[in-house]
Amino acid sequence: MPIKSRIRTIPHYPHQGIMFRDITTLLKDPVGLRLTIEKITNQYKEARIDTVVGIEARGFIIGTPVAFQLHTGFIPIRKKNKLPAKTAGRDYQLEYGSDRVEIHVDAIQQGNRVLLVDDLIATGGTAEAAVKLIEDMGGEVVACCFVIDLPDVGGRARLEKSGYEVFSLCEFEGG
Ligand code: PRP
Ligand code: MG
Repeated sequence: MPIKSRIRTIPHYPHQGIMFRDITTLLKDPVGLRLTIEKITNQYKEARIDTVVGIEARGFIIGTPVAFQLHTGFIPIRKKNKLPAKTAGRDYQLEYGSDRVEIHVDAIQQGNRVLLVDDLIATGGTAEAAVKLIEDMGGEVVACCFVIDLPDVGGRARLEKSGYEVFSLCEFEGG
């Protein structure tokens, strides 16, 4: 388990009862970083991806080298009020309250085949808002890629039920 074994778990962070899966230990390891990017790239190198979209913040770290390796550009989806030009946005629910992700309206070309990348899928709320935003802009989501899936929280099932391909490098049971 070259990927999973390099991810550190911090119990009770940021809240009591949460097991925080910390990818900084994976990223700082040269083999871990290389394998992470190679495994995602190898999975999609024949998929005719036009562009990679990464979700702020940790999706930027994974998504940009994936785009580089796939010879595509990289497009950021950011939290609200961070992007400088004209944006479109989607709201999504958090455990307490809601948040919003945004994209530049001119970032995606109609019919672009998009690979969505983030570090982790839990409830899938963030990724679902991102795929809707990509589709609002005329993009086609080829797949959603994550380093970590928390299957018990249900995000993967939620995306797959909506018809999206989900690819992850490892799973942590129990959320
Ligand atoms: C975390 C993680 C994913 C998202 C997954 O990001 O990096 O983006 O939550 O949760 P979900 O599947 O339940 O929506 P977070 O919003 O904590 O911020 P960060 O990446 O900017 O640190
Ligand atoms: Mg995130």
